[in-house]
Amino acid sequence: MCGIFCYIGMQDAVALVMDGLKKLEYRGYDSAGIAINNNGILIHKRQGKLEALSSSVPPAFRGSKVAIGHTRWATHGSPNIVNAHPHVSADGKIAMVHNGIIENYETFRSSFGETDIQCEGETDSEVLVKYIALQYQEPFQNLEEVVAKVLSEVQGSYSLVIMEESKPHKIIAARRGSPLVVGRSDDGYYLASDILPILPHTRKVVYLEDGEIVVIENNQLQIFDFSYQQKQAEFQYLNIDLHSADKTGYKHYMLKEIHEQPKALRRGHGQQMSNDNLLPELQPFMETISKAGRIIILGCGTSWHAGLVAEYVIEKLCRVPVEVEYASEFRYRDPVIYADDVIVALSQSGETADTLVALEEAKKHGALLYGVVNVPTSSIARLVDVYSNIFAGPEISVASTKAFICQLNALYLFAIKLGKYNGNLSPDYSLSVLKELRQVPDILKNYLSYIVYRIKNIAMIYSHVNHTLFLGRGLQFPIALEGALKLKEVSYIHAEGYPAAEMKHGPIALIEKGWPVIIIALKSDPHYKKVLSNIEEIKARGGSVIGIISEGDESIKDNVENWIEIPRISFLLSPMFTVIPMQLLAYYIGLHKGCDIDKPRNLAKSVTVE
Ligand code: F6R
Repeated sequence: MCGIFCYIGMQDAVALVMDGLKKLEYRGYDSAGIAINNNGILIHKRQGKLEALSSSVPPAFRGSKVAIGHTRWATHGSPNIVNAHPHVSADGKIAMVHNGIIENYETFRSSFGETDIQCEGETDSEVLVKYIALQYQEPFQNLEEVVAKVLSEVQGSYSLVIMEESKPHKIIAARRGSPLVVGRSDDGYYLASDILPILPHTRKVVYLEDGEIVVIENNQLQIFDFSYQQKQAEFQYLNIDLHSADKTGYKHYMLKEIHEQPKALRRGHGQQMSNDNLLPELQPFMETISKAGRIIILGCGTSWHAGLVAEYVIEKLCRVPVEVEYASEFRYRDPVIYADDVIVALSQSGETADTLVALEEAKKHGALLYGVVNVPTSSIARLVDVYSNIFAGPEISVASTKAFICQLNALYLFAIKLGKYNGNLSPDYSLSVLKELRQVPDILKNYLSYIVYRIKNIAMIYSHVNHTLFLGRGLQFPIALEGALKLKEVSYIHAEGYPAAEMKHGPIALIEKGWPVIIIALKSDPHYKKVLSNIEEIKARGGSVIGIISEGDESIKDNVENWIEIPRISFLLSPMFTVIPMQLLAYYIGLHKGCDIDKPRNLAKSVTVE
């Protein structure tokens, strides 16, 4: 949700910033811009993807040792060149890039009334930088003091970086609610919305906390709070693996990440299942977790779907009531939260604003907060009492795939650990589930090697459709939702996910001749026969059924128009396999339609605004 990358130091800042922004493009890609300060502030912006910006940088930008860059996902104002960042003060002497939302920007704008300050665009960011410049007068000695004062008045969430024309060796940055990392290397300082683009340059970083301002001037770094009190800067050395963030020969990140799933799971198993001490980080909290009256799972989008699978699994293996909530809904309905609740936040990025604010609300009630994240340095990981890393490695494709399966893996382990701890799960049964879970990466690798060809063909048949219905029962219902979400995101085909049995309560009215329905019908499902009846109901109305079926289930093949088998696996673990055809169907249908798969329209990877 907007990416910021800035550099100040001894190297060619523009090249570094372009490279950094490229790695942040997943956060937004409707427009981009850069500002330098080389004997004066110069701004260059373009509508559209970063390529449009990087291929048109004017020669005057070369040689600057300081630059601030931005790739945008529009919140206020349409995605055009005027609204693109950086924004500047009325006299053009202060430039700013911003990620987030300034909720009370109208209040600031109203103070322009007596002045001749005009905003060219519609963004809250432009208002903010113009307001900061307006306040920059006696008795303030320097810009950071003004920034501190103004930010203490701002409502909303943001990270921002500011440059001042008269101070070419200085950069000021601040955050509240949106991430900002500062890296220090021998040649200078890097500031970014995410650690990924900083890692190739340095592992020495400081994560700005909410309410902090950092000032980098003449190669010195100082941190202040919004009362302009100086704080100790605490750099940490990140000992994290830089997993490959390249496409490594795949046409798209989405396809690469789908094929990476066995490897990602194996990596997780290595860390989370050593000596059968599952998720060892949870050990000190098990007494509290086992006494929980309720587990509340929070997440958005695909992470919410992983939570729905976990609801079935945890209730089955642990007999503890589980509620799964959209984080965005939970936060604002004055939820009832007890101190003995355990709140589980699922988030690939660990930065999703809806999930973060929901957690902040839960924290006030004293519940234990457990995060399941893919980014251990993220805001959610830092907010919760304990977190588990899902070890998916960087997920670049906007449509989430490998994070989902790795979330499931961590949640299965959580359920097994808790079920054993609270005595609901016999040692034999837990061992058998673990044994099967350990086999998943190999079975999945083999499955991916032969199923792609079949799915490509089916995708060709259905790529012209305008509407689809995805159905699944019980554990497969969240997979139906995930299938519909993936298809919508990647191919822009209208898709709805429903519990199979719920179809007769309304959606069946949609079905007419040729209407495609993707239905998960596994022989291992205790309600298999009921799903078969649902298939008959669809066929009776002319629907075209694509069955996601169990390997070796020959009889069902005559009852469906097309089928995709999944390998033999227990029903409990089957979501890790039924989701694969969903991901691949969406990918190949999107590909066939010529969609921009890794950067679907209107979307951004990390949604850091509410
Ligand atoms: C779907 C997708 C989104 C995310 C959602 C939550 O493919 O990627 O629906 O799942 O925005 O993001 P995280 O998990 O980072 O909190």
